[in-house]
Amino acid sequence: MTSLKGRDYIETQDLSDAEIELLLNTANELKEKFRRGEPTQLLPHQTAFLLFFDKSTRTRNAFEAGMTQLGGHAHFLDSDATQISHGETPEDTGKILGSMGHGICIRHDLVLNEGNKYMRAMAAATNVPIINMQCDVDHPTQTLADIMTIREHFGNDLKGKKIAVSWAFAPSYAKPLSVPQGLITLMTRFGMHVSLAHPPGYKLIDRTVESAKANAAKSGGKFEIVDDMDEAFKDADIVYPKSWGVYDFMLARQQAKTKDEVAENQKACLAINAKYKNWICDEKRMKIAKKSAVYMHCLPADRGSEVTDAVIDGPQSIVFPEAENRLHTAKAIMACTMRERPF
Ligand code: CP
Repeated sequence: MTSLKGRDYIETQDLSDAEIELLLNTANELKEKFRRGEPTQLLPHQTAFLLFFDKSTRTRNAFEAGMTQLGGHAHFLDSDATQISHGETPEDTGKILGSMGHGICIRHDLVLNEGNKYMRAMAAATNVPIINMQCDVDHPTQTLADIMTIREHFGNDLKGKKIAVSWAFAPSYAKPLSVPQGLITLMTRFGMHVSLAHPPGYKLIDRTVESAKANAAKSGGKFEIVDDMDEAFKDADIVYPKSWGVYDFMLARQQAKTKDEVAENQKACLAINAKYKNWICDEKRMKIAKKSAVYMHCLPADRGSEVTDAVIDGPQSIVFPEAENRLHTAKAIMACTMRERPF
C-alpha cells in the first residue's frame, strides 16, 4: 500500500507516480466531501506551522482553511517576525517547531539557490513532514492542483495533450521560476506534449529542464523549448502563460543584501521584461490554440499585461476552479503526510 506518512513534500520529482496518484485520489475524495458538506476531520488536534518568507493569498488560505477543515490548526508565521530574521538556523527552527506540532509548511521562493536548500536543511533536522508551499525550484502544491484541474476537464488519460507553458509580460515584480519549472517536470510525467516558450534570457534551472526531458522520454510524452509564444500555442489543448524573472537577475539576488540592492535588481529585471510587452495572452492568440483549449494561470495574474480581461474572464478560462483546487490538494498533502491512510 502506498503511504506518505512522515514524508516530506518538497518537489514532485521526489514522489513516485503511485504517490502522486494517492494525493490526487485523496484530493478528489476531499473535494467530494467538501461539496456534500461532510466533515473530514482527518487530523484532529494536529498543528501545522506555515512559515512564509513571501506574500500569499491562495496558498496561505488553502493551508489555513484546509487544516481547520481537517480538524487541526495552522499557525501563520511571517519569517520577518520570527528569530529567523536574527539568524536562527533552519535546523534549530525545524527542531523546535517539530517538537511542538505535526508538520511544517514553508514558502521561500524569491531567491535562486536559497529556498529549496533551506527546506531540505530543515527536513534533515526535524521528524515532522516539510511541505513546500513554493521554493526557488518547485511549486508542488500549485502543480498538483493544476494536474487535478486538467484531469477534471480532460479526463485522467492526458497522453498526447499539448500544454503551452509560456513566459508572459508582467510589470509588477520579477516572479519566481518555480511555477514553470514545476509544470514542465510534472506535466511531462503524464505523457503530455509540453512546449515551453520564453524570450532569450528567461531560461529555467538546468536540472528542472533535464528532469522534464527524462520524464517525457519515460512517459512517451514530448518536451520542447521554443522562443515564440505563438509556436507554443499552436494546436495547444491548454495554455499556461505566466511571467517569471530574468535568470541572471534572479541568480544575482543572492548577492543583493540591502533593500536598495534588491530594489535595483528588481528594476533592472523589470526593464528587460518591458522589452517583451507583446508576450500577452489575448483573444487573438487564444485562436492559435485549439478551439477547445483552456486558459490556466496560478494567479495572481497581471491583468492587461500577462493576459487580457477578455481571456481570463472568458469562457476558456478555468483559473477559478484551478484556484479552488488549491484547497483540496493542500488538504490531501497534509492528510497523507501527517497520518497513515487518509481514507
Ligand atoms: N498561486 C499561488 O501560489 O498564489 P499565492 O501566491 O497567492 O499563494
